[in-house]
Amino acid sequence: MAVSPHTVTGHDAEAPDGPGADRRDGDTLATRRAQNGLPEPEADDRSNDLSDPKNIEDWALDTRVRHLNHGSFGAVPRAAITVRQTLREEMEANPDAWFRQLPDRIARARGDIAAFLRVPAGHLAFVPNASAGVSTVLNSSVLPPGGRILLSDHGYGSVAMGARRAAARAGLRVETVHVPLDADDEAVESAFARALTGDGATPAGATLVIVDQITSPTARLFPVAAVVRRAHLAGARVLVDGAHAPGMLADPLAHAGDADFWTGNLHKWACAPRGTAALVARGPHGRELTPLTDSWGAQEPFPANFDHQGTLDLTSWLSAADATGFIEARYGWDRARAHMSRLAGLAQATLARALRQDLTGVTVGEAPAMRLVPLPAGLATEPLCAAELQRHIARETGCETSITSWDGRGFLRLSAHLYNTPEDYEYLAELLPGCL
Ligand SMILES: Cc1ncc(COP(=O)(O)O)c(C=O)c1O
Repeated sequence: MAVSPHTVTGHDAEAPDGPGADRRDGDTLATRRAQNGLPEPEADDRSNDLSDPKNIEDWALDTRVRHLNHGSFGAVPRAAITVRQTLREEMEANPDAWFRQLPDRIARARGDIAAFLRVPAGHLAFVPNASAGVSTVLNSSVLPPGGRILLSDHGYGSVAMGARRAAARAGLRVETVHVPLDADDEAVESAFARALTGDGATPAGATLVIVDQITSPTARLFPVAAVVRRAHLAGARVLVDGAHAPGMLADPLAHAGDADFWTGNLHKWACAPRGTAALVARGPHGRELTPLTDSWGAQEPFPANFDHQGTLDLTSWLSAADATGFIEARYGWDRARAHMSRLAGLAQATLARALRQDLTGVTVGEAPAMRLVPLPAGLATEPLCAAELQRHIARETGCETSITSWDGRGFLRLSAHLYNTPEDYEYLAELLPGCL
């Protein structure tokens, strides 16, 4: 258990506007900064500073909680919730009419999301989540026995488990590429290149690389286009796990280079209703892909075969573009991205200072809107302890955070979205040291 024995219990350590207070009321920001010696916001270009405590009203989030972990489950703007509810009412009013025309509506919605992701609609299928996107590729593209799946040790836990199950079914090996936390882009590329070329036992064309675009436990932005180039030179195929990329990156598919397959969640940074993700396959590889659920679209070519999912509430797919459209209209995605990135940097500096942690080694190749702060030694050294500590922090501070554990070290992973403000992180910085 990672929680230290001198843990603060109850809410003794609360700031005056502790858990339960509505964060939109009053702003004690300047006072707090002065009292706690916290850094002033960067004096750089503030033109993209969209911080406004009232932004959170655009989301349905509980304002008594500090939501500092957008990266795990996203958050949906009220505008998209309303559209989705209207669609659900339409579905319930006449299920027969609804389900008979659903695949056509899904195809149109696919076009809208393809435009958001800057890919042709003919290359993109909807899937419920990134897990399903990965499972679809693992189920569909059969590597010959004796082949292998290459993953990095920054990969998402359940994706690695899925790869192991798929490998066991198909007689493949799974190999894990170690990428040091402080590896720069060149070192990341070299780590994959060594694994790709160092193995004479695998026949050409029998390797599938699964590489994360933005890593979950370590919040790194990997140079996936370079990894794809190396993999293709070695005759391997690549699935890019872009779970965090839509919304955080302006052009995630361009960043993924010539990846054979790419999957990304719309329900994280793009704020779509949950259960909405994209699976992109270009060229002939799309022909290999079949949805996890066999349904009436089975005879259709990719991606129309994915527009049929049996009888399922797909209103999340139909309202996904209402979420992305709302953010564009209200904030503008380019400004939103610049804002989130700047705020994430401020958040990281604020918490590192509060926890007296050195950021050396974690500020290399970081994700724009999600940042790591190392935890004091001995905390969250393995995932179960990390989960326990995360719950403890939520209870004691009223802040939802992500505590990750990687390579025997614990980290606080901070997210910054449009509904966050510098004060959110200052609030956590004030309470966190006392509850570790
Ligand atoms: C890198 C990565 N891959 C896959 C997933 C799985 O996403 P989902 O739970 O939406 O399937 C996540 C979730 O956080 C992730 O971070």
